[in-house]
Amino acid sequence: SQAVGLVGWRGMVGSVLMQRMRDENDFSLFQPVFFSTSNAGGAAPAWADGAGPLQDAYDIDALAKLPIILTAQGGDYTSAVYPKLRAAGWQGIWIDAASTLRMADDAIIVLDPVNRPVIDDALKRGIKNYIGGNCTVSCMLMGLAGLFNQDLVKWMTSMTYQAASGGGAQHMRELLTQFGLLNAQVKPLLDDPASAILDIDRGVLKAQQDAGLPQQHFGVPLGGNLIPWIDKDLGNGVSREEWKAGAETNKILGRGEAFGKPETPIDGLCVRIGAMRCHSQALTIELSKDIPMDEVSDIISQGSKWAKVIPNEREASMQQLTPVAVTGTLDIPVGRLRKMSTGTNQISAFTVGDQLLWGAAEPLRRMLRITLG
Ligand code: HSE
Repeated sequence: SQAVGLVGWRGMVGSVLMQRMRDENDFSLFQPVFFSTSNAGGAAPAWADGAGPLQDAYDIDALAKLPIILTAQGGDYTSAVYPKLRAAGWQGIWIDAASTLRMADDAIIVLDPVNRPVIDDALKRGIKNYIGGNCTVSCMLMGLAGLFNQDLVKWMTSMTYQAASGGGAQHMRELLTQFGLLNAQVKPLLDDPASAILDIDRGVLKAQQDAGLPQQHFGVPLGGNLIPWIDKDLGNGVSREEWKAGAETNKILGRGEAFGKPETPIDGLCVRIGAMRCHSQALTIELSKDIPMDEVSDIISQGSKWAKVIPNEREASMQQLTPVAVTGTLDIPVGRLRKMSTGTNQISAFTVGDQLLWGAAEPLRRMLRITLG
């Protein structure tokens, strides 16, 4: 079987990826070669029977021996190593979770349940770079594939509620540390049923505004707060995360100038909230024609095996349409579906996805399988 180089398999995304690959028996299909940026010569993971010692992830000659490399090491690694590898004449397939190469002309954004034809066409054309999409975009498309594939979306806005994990493992820890300190600050008052709620509120605010509250990763408190900006400031009022929604969605779907098809306008606001690892988004969609809601529901649930329509009712929404309900599953529930009073063809939707599964690991392992044939 073919050899595949694995880089960044120990981090948060990498660990989720390795677990999914073990669950799906992917390792029976290839010979893994594990690389490390910090521990070359160390032992491969115990579960990887017969894998050799860790190789140096910066050793271009070692990497160049492999026909396929899959990395979840992050954007800095990609920027440092990928250009050197190609400059050394390497012709292999590069599968990557980082955003570095996503918008390059010679790279495809992979989300095969949605864009398998785009991937197959690229493989035929000899394209060698296959990059996982932005987590919010991938989770949204896994929910709404049906509508997009039938060309029913005239435009869309996406207002996001993004989890701490999108920042990284340290961000999740920081959020939980903050929650703990906020609770500790008012614990005696909380334990006393006769205490005044406004005293508790004042105590929490004091702790949130205390410069000593750990916040180096998010820059401001996230516990009991939200942050209405994600990723870089593009200088035109748009955050990089917001720009990705339109740019990546259209590229995944094979729309826009490069494909000779009109772009679907997509825009919105991206907001960080204190959820752990599921990104949620509230969508407003202008449909290209007036179709009844039961038909919209059918189209969405038939769009992919993982899209699950949740009845637009209070109890179902509270039980099934939340980060807590979705975490650790590949399901992409889509609910709060209704016509909006703003226009005949305008509907609302709310969707939730595990940003480490469909948002990161799953499209990569599936692309590896496609590559292995
Ligand atoms: N940029 C995303 C976030 C994660 O910060 O939530 C990576 O796609």
